[in-house]
Amino acid sequence: MRGTNKEKLKNEFLRYVCQTSSDPMGIEVDRAEGCWITDRSGKKYLDFIAGIGVATIGHAHPAVVKAITDQAARHLHVMVYGEFILEPQIRLAQRLAELVPSPLAVTYFTNSGTEAVEGSLKTAKKFTKRKKLIAFTGGFHGDTHGSLSVTGRAVYQKPFLPLLPNVTFIPFNSLKHLKTIDRQTAAVIVEPIQSEGGVNIPGDEFLPALRKRCDDTGALLILDEVMTGLGRTGKLFACQHWNVVPDILVLAKALGGGMPLGAFISRPEIMKTLSEDPPLSHVTTFGGHPVCCAAGLAGLDFLIENKLPERAERLGRYMMDQLKILFEIGGVENVRGKGLLIGLELNNPKLTERFVSNCREAGLILGWTLHSDTVIRLAPPLIITEREIDQGLGMMREALSKCRVNGRHYPNAS
Ligand SMILES: Cc1ncc(COP(=O)(O)O)c(C=O)c1O
Repeated sequence: MRGTNKEKLKNEFLRYVCQTSSDPMGIEVDRAEGCWITDRSGKKYLDFIAGIGVATIGHAHPAVVKAITDQAARHLHVMVYGEFILEPQIRLAQRLAELVPSPLAVTYFTNSGTEAVEGSLKTAKKFTKRKKLIAFTGGFHGDTHGSLSVTGRAVYQKPFLPLLPNVTFIPFNSLKHLKTIDRQTAAVIVEPIQSEGGVNIPGDEFLPALRKRCDDTGALLILDEVMTGLGRTGKLFACQHWNVVPDILVLAKALGGGMPLGAFISRPEIMKTLSEDPPLSHVTTFGGHPVCCAAGLAGLDFLIENKLPERAERLGRYMMDQLKILFEIGGVENVRGKGLLIGLELNNPKLTERFVSNCREAGLILGWTLHSDTVIRLAPPLIITEREIDQGLGMMREALSKCRVNGRHYPNAS
């Protein structure tokens, strides 16, 4: 009976829910708690990707669930964004203002990362009255038209051309290309660490030099911390590794504690531009939904009280150290990361695919990266324990040992 139901649901998933690839992971989720997801057959999976960077405090954290139910009992959506005074929104914006680097202080809430990126680009153009945007090859900022326009991978842009005009891409981590930023540039958008690009960590000079070039030209610096923000890299915000303060900070993913929530945060004088000339030029119905803000605040409080950024730093070092064991099996090119955002680079795409699929079979969920078919991104919940890390690494070891590519069997492949 259960088996029949399983087939039925999968067929309905494939038939009625728009598919984004021919090969979805297809795990039938029954429950999720902490670092674990249980499917409808009772099989448990250890989650090493946290819903792609969302579940930093684990799945269905009790404090978040309580905040959701408490807020839902008070009210759900009551008015479009910006009109009514909604306590959960104010409390979260106030908490963010205390935590983000000064002088950032005012938050605009959205439903997602890409909407927050859109808002940040529009705000920068309106504030500076300039038209040019600079972005980086290998960067990822979302899939709506504006965000896709600054996403540095031609293959994903091509089917949707024309996109925004006046966007120039320069190489990530290249100091000499920063001179492209000029006095016509409204904004430069960058991820402090490129995540979908393959977990690319810039040299220590790059972000400070970028900040300086923006200061010299009057271009606004937008830091997209949708993936890196809220503790993942070992600091609350990745920009704090380099003491760089952006003009606009973009957050999402972990911000809602598992609920859909994004934000862009800036200085009062920049954010003021959205309320005038004309007013209501950037509005949203659901952005900053009270239930999502209540969930986000509960999640953020837990993250800070339990020092999860420091934990990410410590466990990230442990995980990277342990991952080196995989080199002995073969097929691994490189391990790099900051905190619990780690890239594991294998030496060919087929091996990568097989490895991820073997891991899934064994009960470990891993994520690849959009722009690189050989880099696996490890981004577990920050509440993960050393024991769970060891468990996951054990599964990875076995999965890699089982891989057979082009007739060659690791560990015997050269
Ligand atoms: C760095 C970065 N920016 C923006 C986005 C888009 O966020 P969303 O999927 O919530 O629209 C993502 C999503 O993966 C991201 O990693």
